[in-house]
Amino acid sequence: MQDRLEKLRRKALEELNKAKDSMFLRDLEIKYLGRKGELTQVLRKIKDLSEKEKPVIGKLANEIKKDLESAVSETKRVLERTSEEKTRLTKLDVTWPGEKIKLGHLHPLTQFQRKVEDIFISMGFEIVEGPEVETEKYNFDLLNIPKDHPSRDLWDTFYLEKGLVLRTHTSPMQLRAMEKRKPPVRLIVPGRVYRHEATDASHEAMFYQYEGLAIDKCISVANLLGTLKSFFQALYGPQVKIRSSGSFFPFTEPSLEISMSCLICQGEGCPVCKQSGWLEMLGAGMVHPTVLKNMKIDPEIYSGFAFGGGLDRLMMLYYGINDIRLSYKGDLRFLEQF
Ligand code: DAH
Repeated sequence: MQDRLEKLRRKALEELNKAKDSMFLRDLEIKYLGRKGELTQVLRKIKDLSEKEKPVIGKLANEIKKDLESAVSETKRVLERTSEEKTRLTKLDVTWPGEKIKLGHLHPLTQFQRKVEDIFISMGFEIVEGPEVETEKYNFDLLNIPKDHPSRDLWDTFYLEKGLVLRTHTSPMQLRAMEKRKPPVRLIVPGRVYRHEATDASHEAMFYQYEGLAIDKCISVANLLGTLKSFFQALYGPQVKIRSSGSFFPFTEPSLEISMSCLICQGEGCPVCKQSGWLEMLGAGMVHPTVLKNMKIDPEIYSGFAFGGGLDRLMMLYYGINDIRLSYKGDLRFLEQF
């Protein structure tokens, strides 16, 4: 009797293991555990056994019954899981709402560049863009920066082959733009520039500039200062003041350095403006007569102003960002804040 029971257990478990679908499993359950099932038959016979055998066989039979029951429910669970999986993979419910695709957004610098462009557009400026790989001729020569002039050191860059450089500033676009235009013009050139530079919190080997150029009859320094004041006030608020001081650039005469009253202390003096109350914002000046001639414009009839500054710096002040390198790291923790 004991042997019969053990055999039954082995056979039943083996078959249960092979069950591939729930119908088959159900048949097995009936075959062994059903009212007329094999194990049930054995259990029924226990009452006819001797007093000695009864407890032993009874215990074993009950044990086997429990084993088989738990094997059945375990197999049932496995089968259910696989069939759910199958349905999930094969069933396509076209009425189910689509999964929302996460959209990115423009880089903060691009967003900011557009803000700056909008202000200049509202003042009648046209937005022009140009090549980042430039020739030495446009990056230096035509801007009145002769080959061995020490001022070239200011704009040390990455020299490529065949007289090509990565542009160090957006100023070369003044000349390229004027090849296709006649005064009067008002232009803004935003774009990437490159410098041979050790990077730190305020310097990068690649950064953004915005260049301005206006040429017409009777353009004066007053037009330059008025334009820049309106620009800074539109960007940072009506309380902003600007200040100009003498400077030098080979492509302007006179050349000016434009500063803006410190946004943090309003001119009182603080660590951000190094206690001066002023922040240096850009270089500017009246377009040098030689540069006008290089544009095929008669300096006796026309005059113009130009300016150029760092877009990154404008943005850093706007948002209170203290490290220029954050813009170029691609770190989502930074980018997702805009
Ligand atoms: N290109 C200069 C620079 O990168 C900035 C500059 C100064 C641009 C004076 C101008 C200008 O147009 O008139 O340092």
